[in-house]
Amino acid sequence: MTLAELQKIFWQELSTLYDEREARAITKIVFENKLELQAHQMAFERFRILTQEQQKQLNEILKRLLTNEPLQYVLEEADFYGLKFKVNKSVLIPRPETEELVEWMVREDGRRQTADDSEMQILDIGTGSGCIPISLSKKFPKANIEACDISEDALQVAEENNRGLQTRVKFFKHDILTEKLSANKYDIIVSNPPYISVSEKEAMRSNVLNYEPHLALFFSGDDDLIFYRKISEQASLALKPNGKIFFEINQAKGIEVVELLNNFGFVNIELRKDLSGKDRMVKAEKN
Ligand SMILES: C[S@@+](CC[C@H](N)C(=O)[O-])C[C@H]1O[C@@H](n2cnc3c(N)ncnc32)[C@H](O)[C@@H]1O
Repeated sequence: MTLAELQKIFWQELSTLYDEREARAITKIVFENKLELQAHQMAFERFRILTQEQQKQLNEILKRLLTNEPLQYVLEEADFYGLKFKVNKSVLIPRPETEELVEWMVREDGRRQTADDSEMQILDIGTGSGCIPISLSKKFPKANIEACDISEDALQVAEENNRGLQTRVKFFKHDILTEKLSANKYDIIVSNPPYISVSEKEAMRSNVLNYEPHLALFFSGDDDLIFYRKISEQASLALKPNGKIFFEINQAKGIEVVELLNNFGFVNIELRKDLSGKDRMVKAEKN
């Protein structure tokens, strides 16, 4: 079977789940990735006869995609902030909104990088694949960056990304709901914690619900802001004076998170929307 023939099968089958443009885009990514072809080589290679092994591998990928499994888990790779992160089902697939949060931090603290970033201490809480601290580490190479997660499986993936992307983030296991952070240590604390309530499950798409780790998506209990409350409380002690906190938030909770930070004594609180116009991130400073 030629590359073009198998490509056509992919388009046809994936069109039962995705619109034609998306089906073609997914096919292109899979073929480029698995056959190690550059985008411009695809047209020239269309009559290439695929080996049995290649056909088998691509057919297995197609089967997984047809069960609605996200492309990033099938390829075990996700793009984030210009880098390629290894992902598996132990970690959330990094989202574009989180790239916006990182970009905000980089722009906000870019000037410090040239001045004294060797002394900058940064902590990411609930790190998942390590996408936030590793991206920051590329931008602030001299900063001392730490990141924690409650999940050992997630930390393993983050460590692998740390090695693969040649950064020196220090990862550690930590339950932010029950354990304390060191006092007066950090210049910046960032977190994209679980922020979906179990009651929102029904409205979620099956490719997220059935494949992404529930530990990363959902908080349990009645307190919608449990992670923001605990992290703000701890950050008010763990940050140095004038230290900053950055949160990614549930689009429906912008005002409440601002109020909460205000109640913990933070100042210069700023709520920002993401590119789709939803309240998505907050920054505040310790007084
Ligand atoms: C929404 S995901 C964010 C992952 C990553 N930072 C990102 O932006 O793609 C939340 C992360 O918090 C972690 N987590 C859940 N409960 C936690 C806890 N009590 N303490 C620390 N981390 C926790 C999950 O394992 C998950 O990796």
